[in-house]
Amino acid sequence: MALVPRKKKRKDPALSLVGDSPVGAVKFGEAGIFLVERRMGSSRRSFLTELARKKGFRVEEQMSESVTHVVSENNSGDEVLELLEKQNGICRTEFKAALVDITWFTESMGAGKPLQLENRHRLQDALKILAENAELSENEGRYLAFTRASSVLKSLPYNVTKMDDLKGIPNLGDHSRKVIEEILEGGTCNEVQNLIQNERYQTLMKFTSIFGVGVKTADKWFREGLRTLNELRASKIKFTKQQEAGLLYYEDLILPVTKVEADLIQQIIEEAVHRFLPSAVITLTGGFRRGKEYGHDVDFLITHREEGREEGLISKVISWMTAQGIILYDDTMDNSYHKWKNKESEIFDRFAKCFSIFKLQKMVHNLEPSGTCSHGSLATNETRGIRLAGHAGSSQHLTASAAKDKDWKAVRVDLVVVPFGQYAYALLGWTGSRLFERDLRRYAKHFGHMMLNSHSLFDNKQNKFLLAATEEEIFAHLGLDYIPPQERNA
Ligand code: UTP
Ligand code: MN
Repeated sequence: MALVPRKKKRKDPALSLVGDSPVGAVKFGEAGIFLVERRMGSSRRSFLTELARKKGFRVEEQMSESVTHVVSENNSGDEVLELLEKQNGICRTEFKAALVDITWFTESMGAGKPLQLENRHRLQDALKILAENAELSENEGRYLAFTRASSVLKSLPYNVTKMDDLKGIPNLGDHSRKVIEEILEGGTCNEVQNLIQNERYQTLMKFTSIFGVGVKTADKWFREGLRTLNELRASKIKFTKQQEAGLLYYEDLILPVTKVEADLIQQIIEEAVHRFLPSAVITLTGGFRRGKEYGHDVDFLITHREEGREEGLISKVISWMTAQGIILYDDTMDNSYHKWKNKESEIFDRFAKCFSIFKLQKMVHNLEPSGTCSHGSLATNETRGIRLAGHAGSSQHLTASAAKDKDWKAVRVDLVVVPFGQYAYALLGWTGSRLFERDLRRYAKHFGHMMLNSHSLFDNKQNKFLLAATEEEIFAHLGLDYIPPQERNA
């Protein structure tokens, strides 16, 4: 969950000490923490409460005016607000505390003090909201402008406190600067505040967060008067198979996927692929390859040194995993590169692939106070932490993933099978980020007169394809210094 920019209400520290924790003296009264139990569980919440209090933090059992930080784990900002509205009668327009992710909590525990929510984060979030809205209005120019502005703020090595701090910084347009100025002056930006209250924005954000639902479909449903997922579920709409799965596993699919989960999935896939092609190589790509700790899905490339050996692999692997009950949904397609005529205009590649939903056995949550991951607990689980979940079956419960005491999690996984000769290009294309790929392809076209995609690089001047065995060679063909994955987040 991203930080949602909200005005923080600073309370008199002395007042905040009233009626406080029995454990340890409160050292940081100005920050009042409320831990949201949903998806965290009561025992973990108690554990974290005790830990924080021992370190001198003020943790409130109930949501109240003196809470400055609402900490939740694996909930979206919208879900938290909805929950607080229902359980505590707190109106979202009057909500003053900062909504923060568990990472703020663990980092603060690690630092031994509540960490400042930097302006930079607030500004970044505001610009992201404006970018999202531009995307929902299908205004690509604005989307790119706000996304670039947000990503340039993210890359600044210092906190921004005044407009002068942004002198000479590229990629900040007038509109973005105006937004930043407003937030630096008054803490919020009117345009952004109005947007997060806006019904169309809220509804389209919700609908497009369903797997298989794009802006056009979401907008159509909105215009038909639909507003909530339950209204969608109860409606007569003829969903695609993908949307059906998206609704069925919605509650799980909006949760971030962790690096630990991605590694577990890699093990499952390796086991499955090696049954059919023992020396095939499976590579974790997408955001995780760029060093991200969380993702919305997990992306893998599968290849084999002897080109041709990978043919027909994907359907065998998916069939086997489906029979094992590991696959909840799949959309598997064959390689169609040979049919690819108008190469220039295509955005999507033509590799054999599968867009799937995995049924991942849940691990024991064992987050250490320092924020270390639960590697320790993995070893104690059966088969390296993964118990293959039982058969998926064809249950038609509309909220399968909301079921109580469910011991598995639905996770989106993309598998792409790549002929070895195109592997470097596929790796570059699937590592992202989307913005980076976009900029790189544009650079190739305008400055190099070359056409870059996930299959190849075509040099228009020499009228030939340029071969590459590594990403380094591709950057060299483009006349660029190598950019490592960690630096491709822009
Ligand atoms: P993702 O959408 O998975 O993004 O695409 P991500 O960077 O991993 O971030 P998460 O998943 O939201 O955390 C990864 C890369 O794969 C390319 C995209 O262009 C992006 O660069 N991609 C994705 C394709 O080439 N084709 C697709 O069908 C999907
Ligand atoms: Mn991804």
